[in-house]
Amino acid sequence: MSLIRMIIGAITMVRTYVSVLLRFPTKMFSVKCTSPNRLDKKTAIVTGSNTGIGKHTAKDFFERGARVIMACRNPQLAEKAAEDIKELCKGKSNLGELVAVKLDLSSLKSVRECAKQILAKEKRIDLLINNAGVMMCPYSKTEDGFEMQMGTNHLGHFLFTMLLLPTICNSIPARIVNVSSLAHEGTW
Ligand SMILES: NC(=O)c1ccc[n+]([C@@H]2O[C@H](COP(=O)([O-])OP(=O)(O)OC[C@H]3O[C@@H](n4cnc5c(N)ncnc54)[C@H](OP(=O)(O)O)[C@@H]3O)[C@@H](O)[C@H]2O)c1
Repeated sequence: MSLIRMIIGAITMVRTYVSVLLRFPTKMFSVKCTSPNRLDKKTAIVTGSNTGIGKHTAKDFFERGARVIMACRNPQLAEKAAEDIKELCKGKSNLGELVAVKLDLSSLKSVRECAKQILAKEKRIDLLINNAGVMMCPYSKTEDGFEMQMGTNHLGHFLFTMLLLPTICNSIPARIVNVSSLAHEGTW
């Protein structure tokens, strides 16, 4: 049964990406952010920043002077990613700060604890990048009984954002970025 589910999932994904590629060829491959704007004295939170897009985002903000809070479900992986980023930026000047905190978006308890820890220490939050996500994982439920993708990608981030919102509002001009997918453009 799970093999059939996997095959259907893979077909759906290929169909979606082919469809997006045919309809929006230039959108399929994103362009690199080349903003030279400095982020000194700004605090940024990037969820799921121990790898992938989140790690690149954390590195970019760090290079531009931000204090970057790497909110990851595995603190050891977050620390390791922070060390990697520092190593990659060796020799560069005007770097920011990297701070690793634990955030498991599939647990609302963890979301609350992480937000509490951040709010106790941070006076401002200028950028919140809701990047972490799971996709097409086998059917399972979060600690709170929600389907895993819905619970992690949407509900966990929603609660996290709501808890941080008062501080974000006090830090205007601030930004909340929800990393998503082009896949919705490929629906038939
Ligand atoms: N790359 C693409 O082509 C693409 C396309 C469409 C959308 N996106 C979206 O872009 C975002 C980043 O993608 P990516 O390719 O960089 O993904 P990735 O390399 O798979 O990284 C996902 C990150 O999310 C974290 N994460 C997963 N479950 C979590 C949880 N319960 N709590 C906290 N963190 C959790 C992962 O932590 P662990 O390392 O501990 O697993 C990892 O740090 C995702 O939201 C993804 O859906 C990406």
